[in-house]
Amino acid sequence: MKIRKAVIPAAGLGTRFLPVTMSVPKELLPIIDRPLLQYVVAEAAEAGVEEVIIVTSPGKESISDYFQPHTALEQRLAASGDQELLDRVAEAAGLAKVSFVLQHEALGLGHAVLMAKEAVGDEPFVVILPDDIIAHSPGAIAQMVQVSEEVNAGVIAVEELPWEVIHNYGVVDGTPVSDRLHKIKGMVEKPPRDQEPSNLTIVGRYILPPQIFQYLENTRPGAKGEIQLTDGLLALIHDHDLYAYQFVGKRFDGGTPMGLLRASLAFALDREDTKEEALSLLREFQDWI
Ligand code: G1P
Repeated sequence: MKIRKAVIPAAGLGTRFLPVTMSVPKELLPIIDRPLLQYVVAEAAEAGVEEVIIVTSPGKESISDYFQPHTALEQRLAASGDQELLDRVAEAAGLAKVSFVLQHEALGLGHAVLMAKEAVGDEPFVVILPDDIIAHSPGAIAQMVQVSEEVNAGVIAVEELPWEVIHNYGVVDGTPVSDRLHKIKGMVEKPPRDQEPSNLTIVGRYILPPQIFQYLENTRPGAKGEIQLTDGLLALIHDHDLYAYQFVGKRFDGGTPMGLLRASLAFALDREDTKEEALSLLREFQDWI
């Protein structure tokens, strides 16, 4: 079945970016000139997703403002004949149909996804965590959609990380099926050190069947006292196949200030219109240290 919808949880407090997140949602922080959110919506759109459901919380209205038409600005730019800027203004809203649901209490990622149950309905969908920025073409979601069609089951993105950081992530226990693909037999959210089942960590891209909502409804608080998506998935695999896929591409952690800086540099070095300046900036800083 075609994947038409994506759920993007964006209701968190953004504590790692305080104080800026007192008034700017973390999801609107930029890599160069576009907010994190726009990169992941573009990645979903490229994979054929037509509708994006963003889960936000009260006080983060600037996220929905971003995706509204900016008529006055567009009129001014049209009057001055600046087509390039006009295209940039229209870009975000043109990627997909965007709607919003509210998560009133910060009860965890699993709970945030559950808030989108009605908006998703009875069809498979993608969950995208906008902290995880993945650079590659084709994008990680497009790769996963293809894998999901091949195995006819849900797929979650994973990557191998050094053992000393594994306890910060959801971790998968899988049986290798083919190159990059593992059938999941267990998973755990933020395992204590020395109890990690593997070094395959979950990255914020999931293709899930709609049945996940029933399991999330019955999921009790787990790691950090929160309703974890990983725990809902662990219940799901008793009755449904689920695969872990090592995507092709580089993941950046846009959820921390230094991760965002890293992503910004990498993207600036990659973009035609910024790469020269970014390169000379790096050279300039080399002399500083
Ligand atoms: C969430 C998920 C975790 C996953 C991580 C990837 O954790 O719960 O399984 O490994 O995203 O970024 P969080 O970063 O919200 O603590």
